[in-house]
Amino acid sequence: MKKAILVLSVLSLVAWGLAQRYFSEKELQLIQNGGKAYAGVFQNQRPDQALCSLHRNRLPADLLPQFLEEQRALIKYPQNGRLMGDWKKGGAIFNNLQKANCFSCHFGSPVHLGGDVGPSLEKYGLKRGQSEAVQRYTYEVIYNAWAYFPCTVMYRFGAQGLLSPEEIADVVAYLLDPESEFNTKPAVGSR
Ligand code: HEC
Repeated sequence: MKKAILVLSVLSLVAWGLAQRYFSEKELQLIQNGGKAYAGVFQNQRPDQALCSLHRNRLPADLLPQFLEEQRALIKYPQNGRLMGDWKKGGAIFNNLQKANCFSCHFGSPVHLGGDVGPSLEKYGLKRGQSEAVQRYTYEVIYNAWAYFPCTVMYRFGAQGLLSPEEIADVVAYLLDPESEFNTKPAVGSR
């Protein structure tokens, strides 16, 4: 019992320490004055999410370098080092509402009519090519979009544990491989 209390107090100290890093005294007071429930929800967010909430998803320029660095540090790569996997497996992930659901936000899928929350990805691989830089950019945006677009609504598939590094490499192949149906078949709804 005593041990549990000790562990709990250490954990809350750590949480408090993390919150302290991002909120000034005045900001913390504002959060606490918003009511107990509000403060609870707000303070239990991860520090990066809390920062986005506090600034309504528009981070001030002086916070950007540290934020981007921290987000970049979360990115992990496939064991075999290959950033392009199997495009067929990637398609099954991209076009599955219960898996990555990419098409709901992005136009370009030959299987489903895409949404327009994010930019169109139509013929992405034909337009950008398959250079090392393009592979890396695409992989990293899917793994943790916040490393490029701080606070964006796009899910952070790797950082949040929604997809494994290998699954992300499969999705990268689906977008980039010139033989992928994403690049050989017309997008649903294209004119
Ligand atoms: C909830 C909506 C949403 C989902 C789901 C989503 N994205 Fe995005 N995506 C966005 C938005 C919005 C942007 C643009 C970033 C910004 O400006 O906020 C973006 C940007 C991108 C970019 C960069 C585009 C460019 O022109 O450089 C790629 C690549 C991308 N998404 C791929 C994917 C893939 C692959 C998936 C599924 C694994 C996916 N996205 C799921 C919303 C989404």
